[in-house]
Formats: sequence, structure tokens, C-alpha cells
Amino acid sequence: MSVPLFDPATPLLPLRDELHAAAVRVLDSGSYVLGPEVEAFEREFSRYVGVRECVGVANGTEAITIALRALGVGAGDEVVVPSFTFYASAEAIPPTGAQPVFCDVDPVTFCATSDTVRAALTPRTKAVIAVHLFGNAAPIAEIAALGVPVVEDAAQAAGTTTTAGRPGALGTIATFSFYPSKNLGAFGDGGAITTDDPQLADRVRVLRFHGSRDKVGYEEVGYNSRLDELQAALLRVQLPHLDAWADGRRAAGRAYADAGLGDHVELPVPAPGADPAWHLYVVRDERPDELAAALTERGIGARGYYRTPVHRQPAMRAFAPSADLPGTDEAARTHLALPMGAALSREQVDEVVGAVRASVAD
Ligand SMILES: Cc1ncc(COP(=O)(O)O)c(C=O)c1O
Repeated sequence: MSVPLFDPATPLLPLRDELHAAAVRVLDSGSYVLGPEVEAFEREFSRYVGVRECVGVANGTEAITIALRALGVGAGDEVVVPSFTFYASAEAIPPTGAQPVFCDVDPVTFCATSDTVRAALTPRTKAVIAVHLFGNAAPIAEIAALGVPVVEDAAQAAGTTTTAGRPGALGTIATFSFYPSKNLGAFGDGGAITTDDPQLADRVRVLRFHGSRDKVGYEEVGYNSRLDELQAALLRVQLPHLDAWADGRRAAGRAYADAGLGDHVELPVPAPGADPAWHLYVVRDERPDELAAALTERGIGARGYYRTPVHRQPAMRAFAPSADLPGTDEAARTHLALPMGAALSREQVDEVVGAVRASVAD
């Protein structure tokens, strides 16, 4: 039996008729951009996350740029961001005029900590981007206690819970991606910004629409960054199922542990107080690419996502940190994503664990 790295299609099969009906409803409505579906999704997603405000935007990358702009980040400022993340977390900073300053991560949780962020702070730091990587939860309260506004990059953490609330409700402002492979995925690009601060949300709404409130006056240089009606309607069908899908991901994680995967590789470790809806199930191994090749040969999806950390990417050369980032280098060298999904079955888990066992014995 082959097992793909991820399978977004299977959990959607029972929703096929509802999704079709929602798509047709929008096609027939004559309203395609910033209409009632987006407004309804914003209400429903803010309630889900546990915040007062949600603003739909075009994707998770622009969500970060716009969130930073709303916080007043601009030329001459610095924004701290972990280097072990998807490239977009850092790429979103230079368009504001500010400079990314890379901080280290804990190689066990894959997230920044208050210590790694503190080491990157300077008097020019205007904000910190804390990434809830792979669905784990970064320690937002501890980072916020350093006295700098925290932008949660929650692109990979929809469905995760923590004892302090859901990702998206823990920092000053937060960003989501609804890229199709995400825990809550659209059928194209989409994103959202959540916050408890109505004034910040108001700035975000103006920025997402060309810096204008009324298409007549333009207050500042903004963006054309809107969630469209079709994506919002399709997301609304899925949102009521997000928690059940998150439970499916957690159950698959428990099944991996029960099946003895931890005898062969280091299992992912939830951050204190977090109950992660694993977006990617990322283990650690001393020779991950050899293991990935052996698993691929056996039909099992396996992949290192961020083998080259962001601060070592050519486009980020100008922002290279002066100090080493040892946790980042370790995470980049050892991580390996194994199959994960809301519908991953016990048989599939056993197949993956059997293939890992056979691969490490080779
Ligand atoms: C951690 C993280 N940040 C930001 C993004 C950017 O989101 P998008 O692809 O919707 O622009 C993604 C996903 O792609 C991501 O995984």
C-alpha cells in the first residue's frame, strides 16, 4: 500500500454536494468580490478563533505584510522572524520597508522561544512574527512579555488549541493561509487576518482595498488583496468540520506513537499547553534524506521541507544574521515530514511505521 505525504481530497468527499451547491450559489449571485459570503466567513472564522475581528485577504503572505503595515511597521524598522519556517514568513517583511532580523528556534518544538526572540531584539524592533510551525504553537504570551507586538503566523495552525486559546487569538494580530493543502484549505489562494483590536482591523480593511474606504479617497498606498466570494463560500462549508479534521490529525499522531514510530525516529513534541492539529507530521532523524529516499522507494511520502533555512536563501543574503542559529541549523538538517492528514487510517499509519522500521534496518 502506498501512502501519500498528504491527501486533502479524501476528507472533502462527504462534502461534495454541499461544496457544489455553495459554488453554484456564488456563480448565480452576481457578487464575486467582497460580498456577503466573505462577510459571513469573517464572522464565522472570528467566532471560531475567539477574536472580535477577522478580515479576509488574498493569501497568507500578503496577510503578513498587511498585518505589519497595520501595526505601523515601515522603513527603518526591524521585524524579528524565525529562520526555520516557510520562506513567505520572512519574504512578507521587506515589502513594508522594514528589515527581517532572523531569530533561532527550539529544534524540538520547531518554534521560536522568548529567549531566541530576545537575542534578536534591538531598539529598532517594531514587531515579532511568531510562527506556529507544522501546527505546533509558539509561546506567544512569553514572547509578548518582551514588550513588542506579536504577529502570529498561524498559516499552519488552524485547528490547533492551547490552554490560552486558539492560535490567531494569542498575539496582537494573526495571519492565516487557506492555501489548498492547509488544515482549512480553499480551492485556490486565500488568507485572513484576525485580531481583537477593532482599530487594527479597520486599518487592515483599508489596506486590503488600495488604502481606501470608499473608492473615492485614498488614504495610503495599500494593496489589492481580497478573499473572493467563491473561496469564502467554499471555506464556510468546511469550517464546521475543522475541529473534527483536527481531531483526525491528532489521532493519527497518537497512532504513530502507539505503533512504535518513536523507536526509530524522534517524534514531534507538542509545545507546553498546546494540542497541535499536526499540519505536517515532522519527525527528526540524523540521516533524514536517506530515510526519505528509502521510504519513497517503498511508496511512502516523505520530505524535508526547509532543508535550507530562510536566512541562508540567496534572496535573504542582505539580511544574514551575524550570530549563528544553531537550533535552526539542527532543525533544518534533521527534520522529515511523514504522511499526515485528517483521514489517515490506522492501516496507513501501520504501513508507514513498517516502512520506517524496514528502512532503518537496511
Ligand atoms: C508558515 C507559513 N507562512 C506563510 C505562508 C504563506 O501563505 P500563502 O501561500 O497563502 O501566501 C505559508 C503557506 O504557504 C506558511 O506555511
